[in-house]
Amino acid sequence: MPDPRFAQGDLTAAAEMLLQAAGCNVEDAALVAGSLVRADASGLPSHGLARLPDYLKRIREGGNDAAARPELVSEHQATAVVDGNHALGQVVATFAMTKAIQLAGVYGVGAVTCRRSSHFGSAADYVRMAAGAGCIGIATTNASGTMAPFGGITPMLGNNPIAIGAPTGDEPFLLDMALSVAAKGKIRLLAAQGEPVPDGWATDARGRPTTDAQEAVAGLATWMGGHKGYGLAIAADVLSGVLSGAGFGSSVGAQPEHARTQEVGHFFLAIRIDSFLSPAEFTERFDGMVGELRSSEPVDGSGSVLIPGDVESHQRAASAEQGVPLSTAVWSRLEDEAHTLGVSLARPEPVTG
Ligand SMILES: NC(=O)c1ccc[n+]([C@@H]2O[C@H](COP(=O)([O-])OP(=O)(O)OC[C@H]3O[C@@H](n4cnc5c(N)ncnc54)[C@H](O)[C@@H]3O)[C@@H](O)[C@H]2O)c1
Repeated sequence: MPDPRFAQGDLTAAAEMLLQAAGCNVEDAALVAGSLVRADASGLPSHGLARLPDYLKRIREGGNDAAARPELVSEHQATAVVDGNHALGQVVATFAMTKAIQLAGVYGVGAVTCRRSSHFGSAADYVRMAAGAGCIGIATTNASGTMAPFGGITPMLGNNPIAIGAPTGDEPFLLDMALSVAAKGKIRLLAAQGEPVPDGWATDARGRPTTDAQEAVAGLATWMGGHKGYGLAIAADVLSGVLSGAGFGSSVGAQPEHARTQEVGHFFLAIRIDSFLSPAEFTERFDGMVGELRSSEPVDGSGSVLIPGDVESHQRAASAEQGVPLSTAVWSRLEDEAHTLGVSLARPEPVTG
């Protein structure tokens, strides 16, 4: 039975209302609600409204500060360091990528690290900002240590996503990938639905491959590309955690530990295209490359060749037309939060389902 679908505006309004009731100002509530609902609309429910109850509990129990403002700690030529002051991660990350884009406007590149932040949602959001400002963007973050080093079974490294975005004449190229074969959130969703996890996604706690969702939740996600994904996760943590002064490795706090600050770190790089060649020439060259890739003969029965970002952009188009899918279980957790916050949350009329 597919999840019911709701108008994007209705879900966004509900999330904004809950975030404001928890203490966020209007702008922050809109930013965070927008990020979560966009993830649901993009087919990434593991980073959508399913996260909102944790965000609200973290504000209530002290892990995040809804009223905090991120601030610049230092700025040196094309670089800056941001202290997130434990504001919600999306607020910190948007502040920092805005700064990176501004620095790139002056120096051609801008590199910004953040410390004292938390889960920032989908990394694509920040490189999309850069691509929209005539830049190639890179964004990465560390995350709590759910992954074991390659060859080990002790969780101590995050499934640190890396995103790279660049404009095209159409939708931007948006590569946004966690470094496991599949994000742990996707494994948890399958477990909640009582479904097995696909082969190769996870091991049990002893490092033995499993498709049993409960074993996988208690166990370890598998690195994308084996030792290569593992190496990239360390590289992401060097930029996000070690360099920024944030937590790193096993010291990054877990999102469900609501009373504890996460000490997450992020890294953002904006590279101005017109420092290298004219944006028109870049677009012509890159569109040529993308067009050539799309023209490849597809594998039998696979439809067509895609570019990173296409899957999510097609999902957003479907969500705009048919509504954003949201499980009844997630909606009922939002109702519980509304009850705790003492506000009334009316379930919007589903568009379908
Ligand atoms: N904030 C955090 O701590 C954190 C941690 C982990 C993951 N995440 C987020 O979780 C989300 C999901 O990550 P994921 O790794 O599961 O994503 P994914 O595996 O669904 O997609 C990874 C990338 O591959 C592209 N892609 C998918 N199918 C393709 C195809 N057939 N051809 C070409 N490209 C294709 C997608 O467009 C995307 O850019 C991301 O937004 C990520 O930022 C966040």
